[in-house]
Amino acid sequence: MYKIVEKRKLAPQIYLMDVEAPRVAKSARPGQFVIVKMNEKGERIPLTICDYDADRGTVTIVFQTLGQSTVEMAGYEVGDYFTDFAGPLGEASEFIYEDIAELKQERLVFVAGGVGTAPVYPQVKWLQQQGVQVDVIIGARSQDFVILEEEMKALGANVYVTTDDGSYSRKGLVTDVLKGLIDGGAAYDHVIAIGPMIMMKFVAKLTKGYNIKTTISLNPIMVDGTGMCGACRVSVGDEIKFACVDGPEFDGHLVDFDEAMRRQAMYKTEEGRYKLEAEK
Ligand code: NAD
Ligand code: FES
Repeated sequence: MYKIVEKRKLAPQIYLMDVEAPRVAKSARPGQFVIVKMNEKGERIPLTICDYDADRGTVTIVFQTLGQSTVEMAGYEVGDYFTDFAGPLGEASEFIYEDIAELKQERLVFVAGGVGTAPVYPQVKWLQQQGVQVDVIIGARSQDFVILEEEMKALGANVYVTTDDGSYSRKGLVTDVLKGLIDGGAAYDHVIAIGPMIMMKFVAKLTKGYNIKTTISLNPIMVDGTGMCGACRVSVGDEIKFACVDGPEFDGHLVDFDEAMRRQAMYKTEEGRYKLEAEK
């Protein structure tokens, strides 16, 4: 059983929870995720790890209430327990295997869309702690939905915020800010985009034109999280990959976003789920 030791509402429908899971906290790396089950009968919910503290034995998750399960999860309070908290799953971000001296020579920018800002945080934290200076573009629908801005700034990152409706900071999409920075002379070597699929698709389209290496993190429907069920299948170049074991991060210029979005939409209906099950 995994105890909730902190709960905060970050924005409308977006919650942060610190969960006691010492084994996961000890081995978690930026870019990995967990699969949470609230109770014996509960759905398995994949959530990217927002932070972890090995000394305290806690893992921070951030989630948005999108369906019945996440609404139920938002009803859990400090002192309540989750039945299962499996992880860390997936491959860690490629940075942690790279040479720090070389990374310090690179110009990196993170593009964080909405609740996708949460999985960007541990990557920025890790890099800034290694002395690698990064830029972060946070995009949100409106001021109320901007999350983790102050936390990113506290890490020393250069943070640019943009809102769709202009209610805070500049008005526009993350792609507008990214294009502006590149055209303004920011010679980025690597763009890392995490957020809604449509955002990652358009970031990858933009950076392809500038020939800038781009990594995205997929957050598809997952069932077993072990590469066996096929639910998280994605086409990357000529290859079929499973986001749960081969990802969640992939080369943004190779991912077939249109197929991934079609599969995501199909999972929202009973009939679609049946078709995808039959395909396995
Ligand atoms: P949102 O719809 O509010 O969008 C966030 C930002 O993305 C916008 O402010 C905008 O700047 C940018 N964006 C949106 N559409 C765009 C487009 N067509 N072109 C360029 N930029 C665009 O985001 P939200 O509601 O907070 O996000 C929810 C989605 O994020 C869910 O679908 C969830 O599955 C996904 N998510 C993904 C991850 C991941 O690891 N990839 C993690 C958490 C959540
Ligand atoms: Fe089943 Fe990835 S979740 S294969």
